[in-house]
Amino acid sequence: MTQQITTRRAFRRTDDYTPGTPKVKLVTEPLPPLTPTAVLIKVHAVSLNYRDANIANGGNPWPVVPHGIPCNDAAGEVVDLGDGVKSLARGDRVAPIVDTENITGREATRSWLAADEDGVLADYLVFEEEKLCKLPDHLDWVGASIIPCAGVTAWTALKGVEIGQSVLIQGTGGVAMFALKLARAAGLKVILSSSSETKLRKMKEQFPSPPLLTVNYATNPEWHEEVLKLTDGAGVDLVVEVGGTGSLVKSMKCTRRGGIVSQVGYLSGQDPQKLKELLPVLIDRRVVLRGINAGSKHDMDDLCAAVSATQMQFDDIIDSVQPFEKADEAIEYIWQGKQVGKLVMRI
Ligand SMILES: NC(=O)c1ccc[n+]([C@@H]2O[C@H](COP(=O)([O-])OP(=O)(O)OC[C@H]3O[C@@H](n4cnc5c(N)ncnc54)[C@H](OP(=O)(O)O)[C@@H]3O)[C@@H](O)[C@H]2O)c1
Repeated sequence: MTQQITTRRAFRRTDDYTPGTPKVKLVTEPLPPLTPTAVLIKVHAVSLNYRDANIANGGNPWPVVPHGIPCNDAAGEVVDLGDGVKSLARGDRVAPIVDTENITGREATRSWLAADEDGVLADYLVFEEEKLCKLPDHLDWVGASIIPCAGVTAWTALKGVEIGQSVLIQGTGGVAMFALKLARAAGLKVILSSSSETKLRKMKEQFPSPPLLTVNYATNPEWHEEVLKLTDGAGVDLVVEVGGTGSLVKSMKCTRRGGIVSQVGYLSGQDPQKLKELLPVLIDRRVVLRGINAGSKHDMDDLCAAVSATQMQFDDIIDSVQPFEKADEAIEYIWQGKQVGKLVMRI
C-alpha cells in the first residue's frame, strides 16, 4: 500500500430542511483508512438522482445517517489499493454498487449508499473491492456515472420482457430515460408517459425511429385507457412504475393479464386511500407486482456487459453537467424537477 492522499473534499448534508437554506456543505476531512482489501478511488463524475434531493429535503422514509455524504451514482479511477486486492488494478475504471450488501441478490441485509452509510459526492472514496464493479471502457466519466443507480434500477425493472414485447415507461427522469435506452436496444415497443408535451415532443425527436408512442398523464387523467388503445386493448407486458399509490392501480389496469409491474418509485406520494382497487385488479389481471431496489453487484456486472456489447452511449439522456462546487444548486434543480434525464457533476 502506498496511500499518499490522506484527506478528501466531500459534500455533507446540512439536515436543515427549511426551504431556501443550503442542503449540503463542502468539507475537507480525513479519508477512511485503506484496508488490505480496499481500493482508493479518484472520483471523476457523480450523477444526481431524485432520491438525493428527497433525502436532502427530509422526504426519505428509510433511515439516514446524520450529516451523511449524499449521492450513490459515481464513476472513478483506482489510484491505490490494498495488498490483498485481487480483481482490480491501478487505472481501472470503477463504481461502487448502491446497496453495498447486495452482491448476489440473495443477501438478507442491506446498506444503501447515501442513507445507511456515506454516499459518493466526494473527490476521493475508499471501498472494499467486493463492492466495486468495472465500468464499460467506451464510456466517458459522465456517461459511466449514471450506471450504478439509474442504470441498474432500469435494468432490473425491465427484467422479464423479450424482444417484440411492450413496455410503459413513466416520466422522463433518469431511471425512465435509462430504461428507454435499454428498451430500444432490446427491441421492445415503448410507450413513454410524461406530464409535459414539450418533454414528449423532445423525446419523439430524440428517438425518431421507430416512432415513440407517448401518453400525457397530466392532461389525460385516464391515461391507462390510452395505453390500452396503443396495445390493441391487451395492455403492455411490463410497466416501469414511478408514480406509486397515485398511479399503481391504473398501471395494473393497462398491464396485460399475467404481465409485470416493476414498482420503482412513489413520486405521487404514499396514499393508501388510492389503493382500494389494488387487490381486485391485481387478481383480475394476474399481474406480477415486483418491488425494485436498484440491483445486485451481479446485476450491475450484467448491465455493464450489455452496455459494452451494444456500445451504448448516454449523451442523449444527459440533461446537463455541472461542476462539483455547484452541488447545492444541482440538488435544488432536481428537487424542482427541471431535468430531462440525468444531471451529472464533474469532479
Ligand atoms: N427503487 C429503486 O431502486 C429506485 C432507484 C432509483 C430511483 N427510484 C425512484 O424512482 C423514481 C424516479 O427516480 P429518478 O431518479 O428517475 O427521478 P427524476 O429524474 O427526478 O425523474 C422524475 C420524473 O418522473 C416523472 N413523474 C413525476 N411524478 C410522476 C407521477 N406521479 N407519475 C408518473 N411519472 C411521474 C416526471 O416526469 P415528467 O416531468 O416527464 O412528467 C419527473 O420528471 C423516484 O421515486 C425515485 O425515488 C427508485
